[in-house]
Amino acid sequence: MSRSRIVVGISGGIAAYKSCILIRLLRKAGADVVAVPTPAALEMIGKTTLEALTGNRVHVRTSEAADQVTHVRHAQEADAIVVAPATANTLAKTRWGIADNLLLNTLLAARCPVVMAPAMHTEMWTNPATVENVAVLRSRGIDVLDVGVGQLTGKDAGPGRMLEPEAIAEHVLATVARTRDLQGRHVVVSAGGTREPLDPVRFLGNRSSGRFGVELAREARSRGAEVTLVAANVEASVLERAGGTRLVRVESARDMLEAMEREASGADIVVMCAAVADYRPVERLDVKRKKTGEDLAVRLVENPDILAALARDRRKEGRLVVGFAAETGDETASALEYGIAKARRKGADLLVVNEVGERLGFGDVDTAVAIVADDGTVVREAEGSKSRMARVIFDAIRERM
Ligand code: CTP
Repeated sequence: MSRSRIVVGISGGIAAYKSCILIRLLRKAGADVVAVPTPAALEMIGKTTLEALTGNRVHVRTSEAADQVTHVRHAQEADAIVVAPATANTLAKTRWGIADNLLLNTLLAARCPVVMAPAMHTEMWTNPATVENVAVLRSRGIDVLDVGVGQLTGKDAGPGRMLEPEAIAEHVLATVARTRDLQGRHVVVSAGGTREPLDPVRFLGNRSSGRFGVELAREARSRGAEVTLVAANVEASVLERAGGTRLVRVESARDMLEAMEREASGADIVVMCAAVADYRPVERLDVKRKKTGEDLAVRLVENPDILAALARDRRKEGRLVVGFAAETGDETASALEYGIAKARRKGADLLVVNEVGERLGFGDVDTAVAIVADDGTVVREAEGSKSRMARVIFDAIRERM
């Protein structure tokens, strides 16, 4: 495997001296490192030090070495970019796409994973402007790390310290490993909610937006997999984020069963994220149903259980099968307890238990998940955006493979 290339961006905080240790750790792990300090960072540490530590030339402005279009080259060649320290100013400028130095230009051109390790005073870290900037960057998939709590520059102490170089290095190296850990694998993800037709214009459906499935497909692709997305009624604006995956569109549970069985043969990993209707109307009228002035009862028949069908032959065919369970707790048991019972029953390798409700779980909101193995062991619990949860889920899948 070729050597990974990591860009270490350094902005102008006192913690900049720690980026020297970060560079050493990354080089020790075998990475080729390029340092891109901002002009303010160069008031904290010297260019000579950075050139000596990385063994590579250091540029600060886009106008230097203009013939090499340095920012674009850095961005294209990097397997990851880590900004440590990331000051409040650099976070804000990155959020708004401002590009008035080489580091910001590189960040704007980047398509690889970006990790930012903030460092600033507590007041600046907790300022609503910074809080919002961090939230927006995270929602775009930029990995803004948390800050440490402790002594800050000067007399004050509190949250705002940059994490230690060892922790940042470990995180960045894991990020780089993730860009390749599904290379050569074929992943099939189902997304959205099935619609069970009543007549040509009406159906029984559910509130699944397909966002989670789309984030899973994106994550699998970013880790090098070949991905097929089987989408049931997912809006075009949501599907846009799944660019680069092979798309198969379906409507009802029975369509989905057929598509999943076909696509799963030859797949290494199947993730059944779609909300499949448990029942469908017995009868589908060919013409629009007329109002009669009387009560109407619709008879429903059970749909096939797609996950169970996929789980049945998985060992023989060497596939890893992951299911989802949208659960709500009640007075008898919590959402997690119901999820653990379901994991034992379903026979999938992993079951992602997703607590749903009015606010949590559907659409564009944060999600809480617990990942449960088929023996009922909870292997991971996490909370956050769907894209962050997608990463956690594939980490658990990798571990299980
Ligand atoms: N699922 C499926 N086929 C169905 C129903 C569900 O493949 N006909 C899959 C979902 O995609 C999900 C998992 O099964 O991965 C769990 O779905 P859920 O609705 O929580 O489970 P059910 O088996 O329907 O259990 P219950 O409704 O009794 O809670």
